[in-house]
Amino acid sequence: MASKSLFIVAIDFGTSYSGYCFSLATQTDQIRQVYWGQEHGLNTLKTPTCILFNEKREFQKFGYDAVMKYNSLPSSEAHRWYYFHHFKMKLYNQKITSHMKLDADNGKRLPALTVFSESLRYMKDHALNTIQEASYQAVYDTDDVTWVVTVPAIWDASARQFMRLAAKEAGLIGDMLSEKLIIALEPEAASIWCKQLPQEGFVAEGGHRQKFEESPGTQYVVVDCGGGTIDITAHEIQKNQSLKELHKASGGGWGGSTVDENFKEFLKEIFHEGVWDEYAQNHPTECQQMMYNFGLQKCSSSKDDLYLHCYHNLTKVAERKHKDISRFFKDVEGAEWCDGSIMITYEKMKSFFAYSIRQTIDALLEILSKPEMTTVQYILLVGGFASSIILREEIYETFREQYHILCPLEAQAAIVKGAVLFGHNQQIVASRISALTYGVAVCETFDIAVHDTQKKRVSKADNYEYCTDLFKKLVGIGDLVAVDEVASYSFTPVEPDQTSVAFGFYCTEKKAAKYKST
Ligand SMILES: Nc1ncnc2c1ncn2[C@@H]1O[C@H](COP(=O)(O)OP(=O)(O)OP(=O)(O)O)[C@@H](O)[C@H]1O
Ligand SMILES: *[C@@H]1O[C@H](CO)[C@@H](O)[C@H](O)[C@H]1NC(C)=O
Ligand SMILES: *[C@@H]1O[C@H](CO)[C@@H](O)[C@H](O)[C@H]1NC(C)=O
Ligand SMILES: [Mg+2]
Repeated sequence: MASKSLFIVAIDFGTSYSGYCFSLATQTDQIRQVYWGQEHGLNTLKTPTCILFNEKREFQKFGYDAVMKYNSLPSSEAHRWYYFHHFKMKLYNQKITSHMKLDADNGKRLPALTVFSESLRYMKDHALNTIQEASYQAVYDTDDVTWVVTVPAIWDASARQFMRLAAKEAGLIGDMLSEKLIIALEPEAASIWCKQLPQEGFVAEGGHRQKFEESPGTQYVVVDCGGGTIDITAHEIQKNQSLKELHKASGGGWGGSTVDENFKEFLKEIFHEGVWDEYAQNHPTECQQMMYNFGLQKCSSSKDDLYLHCYHNLTKVAERKHKDISRFFKDVEGAEWCDGSIMITYEKMKSFFAYSIRQTIDALLEILSKPEMTTVQYILLVGGFASSIILREEIYETFREQYHILCPLEAQAAIVKGAVLFGHNQQIVASRISALTYGVAVCETFDIAVHDTQKKRVSKADNYEYCTDLFKKLVGIGDLVAVDEVASYSFTPVEPDQTSVAFGFYCTEKKAAKYKST
């Protein structure tokens, strides 16, 4: 039983960054956070979701350590090792199998399950060490811990199942059905964190306001602006402080890393004639470092032009094509060659954000126009990407007349801290809106007026004519379903001598379906 655990550990396994927080199972008011990167002169709440395996496919490093180690490898070594980053997005909107493979930075492949489970194993071991140091108490038995792993709310069931499998491989749980692992939804976790924050917990906002959870009826939208996905959910505070979902989870794969992608495309455009591709191919670690530097610069809150150091080897590859490297910049708008650096204008920088911001605003406009959303008062921005001034300003411009827009001080940590609270009490979310229509395949007495003759079957015992493969709806898309809600149905076998029945469960995005589809 989950209740016997000593500790609750929540892991936010992000597309760009990962981290964890924990607390005693008996105490919700003291959540311990862990800081990363001190050995490298950094101090952050999450560490890059990057993992490095050696040529024998053995796990070597995770996080900043993996980034630094990989960047220090000579190119000849780097070509033989396996370096993975941004792999969480491989579970979004794709067909997932337990045997699928992932491409490393250099194109070499490893099973996805290995990459995910070794990452989770690293986080698990790190967490158990931290707990031991903090409490002078060894966690002998993994049963002492309830693990919460967060996933985007817009992930489908197969991706969630894959994370559970990876957690089992990593030794977080002993069997797939264990209650010691809770899969939490990222925007939901953030909502749980935000609802109990005092007003001082948010970036400056005028006027007095109670904690959300102390004002039943408050309705708000939470936007988790991550590196990979933008994940949106809407909640109403109930009288007992629990949450009722107002709208099914929505969003898409347009997180902060689309900004990096756009920047990379821009570099490709500048260093045309295959220069960038050749560079990326032959100097993967240097290229990776350049992207890492850009990632830091895009977080700047100043509206100044940005200067990015151009690495020696990129200059070398470029100069082989044109002796004067500034020629690459002649027909390019928004960038200039500046004495060994690439200068990018603030306007150009903003344009890298445009796609993500447009998609997010459109999704919000669509959701907020729904009839059940007309009384929403707040928009909460969470996740690391919500720290972006460019993103925040645009959202503010679009929505400030109708909504209060809030951002918790620790926008990136809101997810993992809320996940700890969710681990303490999963009943906090009292009801959810079904994202799909679910049903079961059944047979019914055949009726020529409504049924397809191809679906007609005749029972062998008494020539009973029935229609097979019919879809019987159990839950409809958009239906409100309470947590632990039970519904009862009775089914009887078709054949009188039948001794077993196999139930096939199906889901669809449609409101209803006549037949199960194959
Ligand atoms: N001040 C900032 N300005 C712009 N972007 C930022 C800023 N701070 C963080 N980011 C971006 O936010 C993203 C990381 O946010 P976060 O840690 O919430 O994502 P994640 O959890 O790794 O991703 P996901 O939730 O999609 O799996 C990165 O793309 C990072 O570059
Ligand atoms: C350029 O690339 C070569 C070969 O990959 C590498 O050995 C060298 O360190 C790089 N030069 C610089 C200045 O980084
Ligand atoms: C809180 O109230 C809602 C409905 O108002 C109910 O469904 C839920 O079970 C309650 N939760 C708790 C923990 O009492
Ligand atoms: Mg996240």
